[in-house]
Amino acid sequence: MKILNFGSCNIDYVYALPHIVAPGETISSLSLSTFPGGKGLNQSVALGRAGAMVYHAGCVGHDGQLLLDTLSESGVNIDYIQTLDTPSGHAIIQVDEKGENSIIIHGGANQSITPSMIDDVLSCFEEGDILLLQNEISELPYLVSRGKAKGMIVVWNVAPVTESARLVDLSKVDILLCNQSEGMALADVSTPQDSIPALLQRYPNLRIVLTLGKAGGIYQDSTQSVPYPAYQVTPVDTTAAGDTFAGYFVAALAEGKPIKECLIWGALASALSVTKAGASCSVPTKEEVETALHTLTPYTVS
Ligand code: RIB
Repeated sequence: MKILNFGSCNIDYVYALPHIVAPGETISSLSLSTFPGGKGLNQSVALGRAGAMVYHAGCVGHDGQLLLDTLSESGVNIDYIQTLDTPSGHAIIQVDEKGENSIIIHGGANQSITPSMIDDVLSCFEEGDILLLQNEISELPYLVSRGKAKGMIVVWNVAPVTESARLVDLSKVDILLCNQSEGMALADVSTPQDSIPALLQRYPNLRIVLTLGKAGGIYQDSTQSVPYPAYQVTPVDTTAAGDTFAGYFVAALAEGKPIKECLIWGALASALSVTKAGASCSVPTKEEVETALHTLTPYTVS
């Protein structure tokens, strides 16, 4: 089984700040760092570091060499990434003293993906391969629909959730990864606990992973409900925590691990990523996650 991650690559400009800037406020940053990022790239890096065989597809600009190098160095195949004349996508990320962030993205080359590029790339994959997606590239509804038509296992991390996310036909998604606000937006409900029942009522074959911050998360499909914990760490920067979860979760799934184990791998890797600055730079190695299995303590949920 091959894993194709068709997703965004961004150059992240990360500003360390005493607090996230308020409307009308001007503050000086404590530092500025440049990191490789983008939800797609971060998830591919996590897959690669987890030891999975992953192919990344997408577009970067001529300023995107750092992005290509980061993927290659993490063991990701980059044959399906096109380099275009338009600038790479970028993100402006504010990180406060508690490690919380606030992000502006500019799509750049990520928004130049076309149906014909999608057709070309998908022709190299087969029924039963995994197609991992996020929500930062153009032509996502087409991509989901073509992937499903080929019989690929479509895994969609609906981040960042936008109005355009509603254009994706959820009946063609096999596994949905979302946090509470993303789940509520997709299900069109106003309380987090209503999102899973509402989605499963409309899409009974959907498998959902709902992340709940320090409360861990829950996997739910039509036959089972599997909770999992979050792990205690001192946060430095939460950027890419969700991406790290997605990458490690999918890598474990591709290895055929039981669902509870896949969730725990995702949660451990995600916790470790929060202890380091930056997006893809904070994604742990497989060995670090294996060690964390014995050293990190789960939060107890009351
Ligand atoms: O999830 C974190 C990512 O979101 C950052 O790397 C940034 O590029 C944005 O896409």
